[in-house]
Formats: sequence, structure tokens, C-alpha cells
Amino acid sequence: MPASTHLSPAPLTAEAVRGALWTKAYGRTLHLLEETPSTNGAALTLAQEGAEDGTVVVAERQTAGRGRLGRGWYSPRGENLYCSVILRRTPASERLSEWLSWVPLVSAVAAARAVQDVTGSLPSLKWPNDILVGPRKLGGVLCESSSSRTSGTVVVVGIGLNVNTRQEAFPDDLRDLATSLVSETGRLVDRSVLLAALLGRLEERHEALLAVGPAQLMPEYKALCATLGRAVRITLAGGEIFQGRADSLGTDGSLRVVPESAQLGKPAGGFVEVRAGDVVHLR
Ligand code: BTN
Repeated sequence: MPASTHLSPAPLTAEAVRGALWTKAYGRTLHLLEETPSTNGAALTLAQEGAEDGTVVVAERQTAGRGRLGRGWYSPRGENLYCSVILRRTPASERLSEWLSWVPLVSAVAAARAVQDVTGSLPSLKWPNDILVGPRKLGGVLCESSSSRTSGTVVVVGIGLNVNTRQEAFPDDLRDLATSLVSETGRLVDRSVLLAALLGRLEERHEALLAVGPAQLMPEYKALCATLGRAVRITLAGGEIFQGRADSLGTDGSLRVVPESAQLGKPAGGFVEVRAGDVVHLR
């Protein structure tokens, strides 16, 4: 293993992030915390207090990092990126639910592009918004929202990327499933530069989603999505499990899966539209 992997990663600094930032709004207000239970939780609180669009919370460590489907998110101090962006600009009500379902998907595309900007290598995606290198998970996206009659809908986009955690330092239950940029490249990555790239790519994709809608962004998502065309095992939100082939995406970003045989009471030849669930890539 190259010697550089045994050096300590540089701390995140607001100066270094700002020095590399090319966004209009994202990250112009930046809360850099030493520690917080969850940057998503902190961002939701700030949003309720009126924080502006594009406000970012980033932390050196999370003590109760949140993952999808009620899971946790491994968040050791000083190694990785844990950040949340407040989105206040939303489309008109007739496009709101479509927009809400695409924000996590295009955010995963943005995260993959930011990794490419900084390392030269483009990760793939597992539906809906896992960021992968080969079969292992490099990062994930968790969107949470709150609505009120006075301030409307506010969405918080939370992104975790495993950056400088060495493979042997992952906990036993993650070691074979997770990866990090230092594991993949043998080089420590400057998290401030990566955060600036991430915020730039997020702002670009979110602007495009608001301006033109998901149809223009779907081709890029599909090109990066390693799930399409694969044999998959799906666990639905209600706990039902079935296997099939991931066929295509619905206009709302749902995954259309053709069951292997008549399962879940579905006739052979039809597809199941998965809106929320856990996907395992088989073969
Ligand atoms: C997943 O399960 O794949 C989603 C993980 C999302 C983790 C990030 S880390 C920053 C933000 N704050 C959280 O508590 N979760 C998200």
C-alpha cells in the first residue's frame, strides 16, 4: 500500500472549500461542525429557522448518521464527507411529486461526477441512489423534507462519501461491502476540494431538474446506473422479497422489475414498479 495512505487526512476548512467553490448559491453559507448527530438533522433545524436555499451543513463526525431505510451511516471523525444541502426552490405543485422523486437520483449522479472531477474515475450507481465502485458502496444519498403552510416544502439532500477510511478500518459488518476513495486510488483525497466539486455538481443538476424536468436528466442517470439490465433481488418497504430483472425506469424514477416467475401474484410478463426498497445486484 502506498505510504501516502498512512498520512493523516487534512481537516475540512471553510477557507479551502470557498477557495475551490464555483457555485452561485450552494455552500455560500457553510456551517462546518466538529460533531453533530446528523448533518441532515442539523440542516432540517436550520431550514425551520429560515436558512436560505443552498445553505450547507458539513461535519467532521456524525454521532448518529442516518442512512436509507432506517439504517445508520458510518461516520468516523476526520476521514470522510458528511454534508447536507437545503433546497428551498421547488417547482409548481403539479410537478412537485415528480421533482421530489428525482432529487435523490440526480443528486447521486452529481456525487458520481464530483468523484470523477477529483479522482478521474467515474463511479456507477445502484438504484435508487447508492454510489458504487464495482460491487462496493462508496457513498449514499438521503433526502428528507419538511412542509409547512408558511414556508412550503423544504428538502434536505444529505450525502455521505467514504473518502479517507482505510479498508481495514471499516467495521467488520461493512468491510466487504464498503469502499473508499483512498482504498480505490491509494491516495488521500482533500475533502475540502471534493466538497466544492460536489456542491458544484449538485447545483448544476438541481438547476437543470427545476428548469427542464427529469426527461433531460434521465439519460445520464441510466448511463451510470449499474442496476438496469441486471438480475436483482428486491426487498420492498413492506418486507416482501422477490427476484427478477431490472428492466427500465418509470417517469417518476421508479425501478421497473420483471419478476423471474409469477411472484407477488403478478402475471408473468408484467413488471413491478418499485418506488422504495432495497436492491441487491445478483450475478
Ligand atoms: C444511504 O443509506 O445510502 C444514505 C446515506 C446518507 C448518509 C448521509 S451523511 C450526511 C447526511 N446526514 C445523515 O445523517 N445522513 C446523510
